[in-house]
Amino acid sequence: MGLFFMAVVTLLVFPRGSSITLNRALEGAWKGWKEIHSKEYLEEEEVFRRAVWEKNLQRIEQHNLEAALGKHSFQLAMNHLGDLTDEEFNQMLNGFHPNPVQRQGKEVAVFQGSTDWDVPKEVDWRTKGYVTPVKNQGHCGACWAFSATGALEGLLFNKTGKLVALSEQNLIDCSWKLGNHGCRGGYITRAFQYVRDNGGINSEQDYPYLEKEELGCRYNAQVRVGNCTSLVQVQAGSEVALEQAVATVGPVSVAVDARSFLFHFYKSGVFASSWCSHWVNHAMLAVGYGTVQEDGTNTDYWILKNSWTENWGEQGYMRLVKGFDNHCGVANQASYPTL
Ligand SMILES: *[C@@H]1O[C@H](CO)[C@@H](O)[C@H](O)[C@H]1NC(C)=O
Ligand SMILES: *[C@@H]1O[C@H](CO)[C@@H](O)[C@H](O)[C@H]1NC(C)=O
Repeated sequence: MGLFFMAVVTLLVFPRGSSITLNRALEGAWKGWKEIHSKEYLEEEEVFRRAVWEKNLQRIEQHNLEAALGKHSFQLAMNHLGDLTDEEFNQMLNGFHPNPVQRQGKEVAVFQGSTDWDVPKEVDWRTKGYVTPVKNQGHCGACWAFSATGALEGLLFNKTGKLVALSEQNLIDCSWKLGNHGCRGGYITRAFQYVRDNGGINSEQDYPYLEKEELGCRYNAQVRVGNCTSLVQVQAGSEVALEQAVATVGPVSVAVDARSFLFHFYKSGVFASSWCSHWVNHAMLAVGYGTVQEDGTNTDYWILKNSWTENWGEQGYMRLVKGFDNHCGVANQASYPTL
C-alpha cells in the first residue's frame, strides 16, 4: 500500500518534463514554429519538445553569435527538425551503412584518381539539368535510397536527356534481400545492385514515397524508367579521385559524418567543424564543387545535396570544405552507377 501511494505521488509531482523550466519569452516563437511546421503534440509531450526546441534554439543562437565574430565559416538556423534531440536526429535520419571490407573474389570496379588529370575549377551539375528538386526523407532513415536515386537520376539524364525523379520507396521496399533495412538504414552500393539485378527502377511518380516500409515490394516492370548495369566505387579517402569522378561522371553518391548538432541545423556558408569525424553515417549526393573567396583567402567546397527538405541548409544543399582533410569523411564511401 505504501509503495502504491509512493508511485501515485511520484506521478503527480513529477509528470514528464515538469522539472523543466521553460523560457516564457519564447512562447510566441514556439507557437509560430509549431504553426509553420504543422506540429501537434500530446499535452504531456509538449513540455518536453518545447524544452528540446529551446535548447536547440539557444545553441543555434550561440553559434551564430560566434560566427558573427568570425569564429565559424557557416551559420545555423532553426528548422523543421528543431524538436528532436541529437540522439533522435541520428536515429531517424542517419541510415547509411558503410560498405563492409571487400572480400576477395568479389571485385568491384574502383575509380582511381590521377595526379596528372586536369579537371574544371568549378562544377555544378544542377545547372546542367542533372539534378531533381530536393526531397524529404521525413522520419525514415533511408538517406541511402535518396543518395542512390540522385546518382541514378544524373546517370539517366546523361543517357536520355530526360530528368526523371526516381523512386526511393522502390529501393526501400525491394532491396531487403541484398541486406538493406528500409527506414532503418542501408547501403548505397546495394541499392545500385538492386537496380542492376532487377533490370530497372520505377519513377517517383509511379512509386511514390511513403516514409515507411511495411507495404512490401510493388515494383512494376512495365513502367520502369531507370537502369544501371554496374557500379563503381571511388578510391576510398581520396578527395582528388572524388573531384575527378564528380567532374567527369556527374553526381556521385557520398557519405559523411552528420552526427553533429552543427550539421543538423546547418543553414549557410562553408561547413567545417572540428566535431566532424571520418566515421560516416549519412548518405548525400555530391553534385559539384567550387571555390569561394573571402577576406583574401580561397576556400574550396563540395556541393552536397541532402534529403531534409529545402528548409535545411542552402535550399537543401550544403557546401562542405573540400581538399582540407577529407572533411567529415566525404571521400570515404563514394560510389556511382554506370550504364
Ligand atoms: C553525357 O556524358 C558524356 C561523357 O561525359 C558527355 O560527353 C555528354 O555530353 C553527356 N550528355 C548529356 C546529355 O549531358
Ligand atoms: C534495363 O536493362 C534491361 C537488361 O539489360 C533491359 O532489358 C531493359 O530494357 C532496360 N530498361 C531500360 C528502361 O533501359
